[in-house]
Amino acid sequence: MTSEIQFKAWRVEEQDGDYKGAEQTLGTTDLPAGEVLIKVSHSSLNYKDALSASGNKGVTRSFPHTPGIDAAGEVVESATGTPEVGSPVVVTGYDLGMGTDGGFGEYIRVPAAWCVPMPAGWEAKTAMIYGTAGLTAGLCVQKLLTMGAKPEQGKVAVSGASGAVGSVAVELLAKLGFDVVAISGKADHAEGLKELGATEVVGRDALAEDKKPMLKPVFANGVDTVGGSPLAELLKQIKPGGSVSCCGLVAGPQLQTTVLPFILRGVNLLGVDSVEISLPEKEAVWIKLAGDWKCPKAEASAKRIGRADLDGALKAFLKGESAGKIVLDHAI
Ligand SMILES: NC(=O)c1ccc[n+]([C@@H]2O[C@H](COP(=O)([O-])OP(=O)(O)OC[C@H]3O[C@@H](n4cnc5c(N)ncnc54)[C@H](OP(=O)(O)O)[C@@H]3O)[C@@H](O)[C@H]2O)c1
Repeated sequence: MTSEIQFKAWRVEEQDGDYKGAEQTLGTTDLPAGEVLIKVSHSSLNYKDALSASGNKGVTRSFPHTPGIDAAGEVVESATGTPEVGSPVVVTGYDLGMGTDGGFGEYIRVPAAWCVPMPAGWEAKTAMIYGTAGLTAGLCVQKLLTMGAKPEQGKVAVSGASGAVGSVAVELLAKLGFDVVAISGKADHAEGLKELGATEVVGRDALAEDKKPMLKPVFANGVDTVGGSPLAELLKQIKPGGSVSCCGLVAGPQLQTTVLPFILRGVNLLGVDSVEISLPEKEAVWIKLAGDWKCPKAEASAKRIGRADLDGALKAFLKGESAGKIVLDHAI
């Protein structure tokens, strides 16, 4: 066991119901018990981190707390021997950054069962460009493919297209030969979404609330990152036998729909969880993202920020203004 190490962390404290994040110096003895101590070089920003940092008790119950549901770095101590000291690892999901201090600190301590070996050819920064959002985009696409989705069936809709999950889903689907319709509320991101491979970019009004129980089937399949009424409207526009992978709730957690898309068109609604799935399931998608599913445009366009920029970047998520992938680099 190495002696106490001092490190920096972006820590959120509660003061009279208000939540404020700031850099603090902690020691490794402040971290929870666990098998593996990791020196974190990079983390990734996700909508869930914004919820944690703003005191959402569904994500983080007790404060002070260090958010960051993603972390990549090097193993410093390993009680189990696997992963080995010195090996590069990726940790996403489970309780990291929720109840367990996360990747917005320079060190984390976690169970060995949360650590995925760094995929060959990747450095920590690359892994964190994808992060939970990239993993989730990969899982959404994988579910569609498992259901038999094929490019020749027609257009695939991606909602919340400019976001962290949406932007990787757009590039990945386009790379696999799909005709991608990016649905986005940010008109100024239309060109960027086309560069990622979208053949069409439409506004959020494409999924505006409509009283009709069913609509003209326009999309063969879809990836929905927003939930709420846009998801209900998307289901009404899916062609017979098509599928929608659903992973998010930025437009709301409620889903008010009828059974009609399911019983009249055989539409499949596929739930995607990137957090609690098994390590081998995560690892399989990481290996694809580092290989055939690599998204070079998302990699090249990712923003790198330091801990001092976290507050503003997290607030942008809550306002729906965040776009693309953002990586926290602890060396900045
Ligand atoms: N299931 C899982 O394991 C899992 C994993 C990762 C993320 N998620 C969830 O997936 C969702 C997206 O995550 P993210 O990291 O990609 O977030 P993000 O970067 O904030 O992207 C969400 C995008 O949705 C659009 N949007 C925002 N508010 C909206 C609203 N009120 N109505 C319709 N569209 C809205 C915006 O895109 P446009 O401006 O382009 O429309 C925004 O960029 C979140 O709910 C997150 O919690 C779930």
